[in-house]
Amino acid sequence: MSAFLATHTRTHSCGALRAGDVGKHVVLTGWVGSYRDHGGCVFIDLRDREGITQLVFDESFDKAAHDTARELRSEWCVGVTGEVRARGTNVNDKMATGAVEVWVKGIEVFSKSETPPFQIEDSIETNDSLRLKYRYLDLRRPKLQKNLITRSKITSVTRDYLGKHGFLEIETPFMVKYTPGGARNFLVPSRLNPGQFYALAESPQIFKQLLMVAGYERYFQIVRCFRDEDLRNERQPEFTQIDIEMSFVNEQILQNMMEGLISTLWRDVLGIDLKLPLRRMTYAEAMDKYGVDKPDLRCDLTLCDVTAGVKGSGNRVFDGVVESGGIVKCLRVPGPAERLPRSVLDGLNDFAKSFGAKTMWTRVQEGGALPQIKGISDQARNEILRISGATTGDTLILVADKAKVANATLGAIRIHYIGDKLGLIRKGEWQFMWLTDPPLFEVDGTEIAAAHHPFTSPRTEDEPLLDTAPERVLARAYDLVLNGVEVGGGSIRIHRSELQDRAFKALGITEEERRAKFGFLLDAFKYGPPPHGGIAFGLDRLAMLMTGAEFMRDVIAFPKTQKGSDLMTECPTPVSKKQLEELFIQVRPDLPGKP
Ligand code: AMO
Repeated sequence: MSAFLATHTRTHSCGALRAGDVGKHVVLTGWVGSYRDHGGCVFIDLRDREGITQLVFDESFDKAAHDTARELRSEWCVGVTGEVRARGTNVNDKMATGAVEVWVKGIEVFSKSETPPFQIEDSIETNDSLRLKYRYLDLRRPKLQKNLITRSKITSVTRDYLGKHGFLEIETPFMVKYTPGGARNFLVPSRLNPGQFYALAESPQIFKQLLMVAGYERYFQIVRCFRDEDLRNERQPEFTQIDIEMSFVNEQILQNMMEGLISTLWRDVLGIDLKLPLRRMTYAEAMDKYGVDKPDLRCDLTLCDVTAGVKGSGNRVFDGVVESGGIVKCLRVPGPAERLPRSVLDGLNDFAKSFGAKTMWTRVQEGGALPQIKGISDQARNEILRISGATTGDTLILVADKAKVANATLGAIRIHYIGDKLGLIRKGEWQFMWLTDPPLFEVDGTEIAAAHHPFTSPRTEDEPLLDTAPERVLARAYDLVLNGVEVGGGSIRIHRSELQDRAFKALGITEEERRAKFGFLLDAFKYGPPPHGGIAFGLDRLAMLMTGAEFMRDVIAFPKTQKGSDLMTECPTPVSKKQLEELFIQVRPDLPGKP
């Protein structure tokens, strides 16, 4: 039992004291940060999650406390009592508590600390694996603490906003029926049902739709989702969604409600007023101008399609690609030419390699010559200039390839190469947009799959195309994009079984498959389903952008590595043969993870 806690109650956090508190007797608790021993006087920065307060242990003020202070080391956990004094001319403007210090009269060491494997400071560069192994120490760093505090504020403001608008928070199962398609699922063996498995839910999609059938009307859940995907910076195998579904809505009603949520978050968490309504852009326009379905609008560079202009141009590359059904996309980088040094242009092909593409570039000369493009007719040259709007001194970067490759390559060059290298991405802006009217299906040769999920409604005007030209059907789906990141996505759902039948038919899903995969949902839809739609926001991505964190793991308390492992608890691990036998599972004896 701590004698200190028996007689003292904390009065302030380490981030609270200001000039107005001078003269008060206070009780603080926290961890020893930096430490300076000036002989008769020891200065310590005491740290907790709210901030840092300077403590002064002066021999003549309190000898016993001073003696203890000389023993203290980094990361010891202590409680102190003392008097708040002004720092006079030594005010530290960089600290919120910088006007004051606490002269300590009593101290108790709650616990000592071994020398930590790295210093607990924001500015310290430490090897990532060490940080993840000692995550609880890394989480003591002020920056990560601030991130998690902001994340918590995001969820509380969200709950408050949705609660006020009549949304009910309802939990749905994590252990669900496995249905193929969509993201790859994690599987959980069932001991009670030998040889059978649950899937961990990749999202509550079907359940939230069933809640609409059940009449709950407005649902939300801040919910963990599980996807066994290849991981990147913006992806974790378990991540959190703010998952929402509403009955009796169309796109406009739903998006207005969500803009209310987003603007409330920005106002209450960041103190920023967003201008509503947020911008809307069709998928077709996004692909045409930016080459991607999540354009970063903080950069003004745009792409254009010069395919029609270069048909039969005389340039071998262009002509070959156009004849085989490809396209020629062009990125115009306005002059003067010196702005875009040769060394940057020389790196383009290396960058494009990972997309399996090649690039071409040319500088526009006086009189409109494009010297680097060989063999091109005057007419094609003039068309390129006309379509791109390029003038003398501009640089044009071109990619001729299949539409998918050309767009992806030049879209990435626009932001991640040229935009980045030339500093053309405006920091500090919040560029939101709703991406609307994406294709309903992904068509690859003869393969056809749902681009979103099979319950997404086609646009009413496109319904007749379902049976004849499914590749041209656009969806009543939308993504919310912020600074080039997809932070949310959703759709208006199909609620008429006749339309659902046609969508399944277009997908080539047989009657039998439908029953096996979605029988319960189709049954439910026989009992008066309301028109409904929804959306899910990626909470981790929102938090990453709102805190300005560079990595998604910096807004997750206990994240996984790119290989899906947790370096602190060391998981995943092999399990014993006996455990596997109980689950009726055999592991190949040659695997490294064998028991
Ligand atoms: P979707 O699959 O688009 O939609 O997911 C919604 C949002 O969740 C975030 N997200 C992720 N965040 C981190 N790591 C991941 N691996 C990951 N995957 C997705 C993204 C994305 O926009 N049920 C539908 C929503 C609906 O239609 O209502 C769904 O899950 O920010």
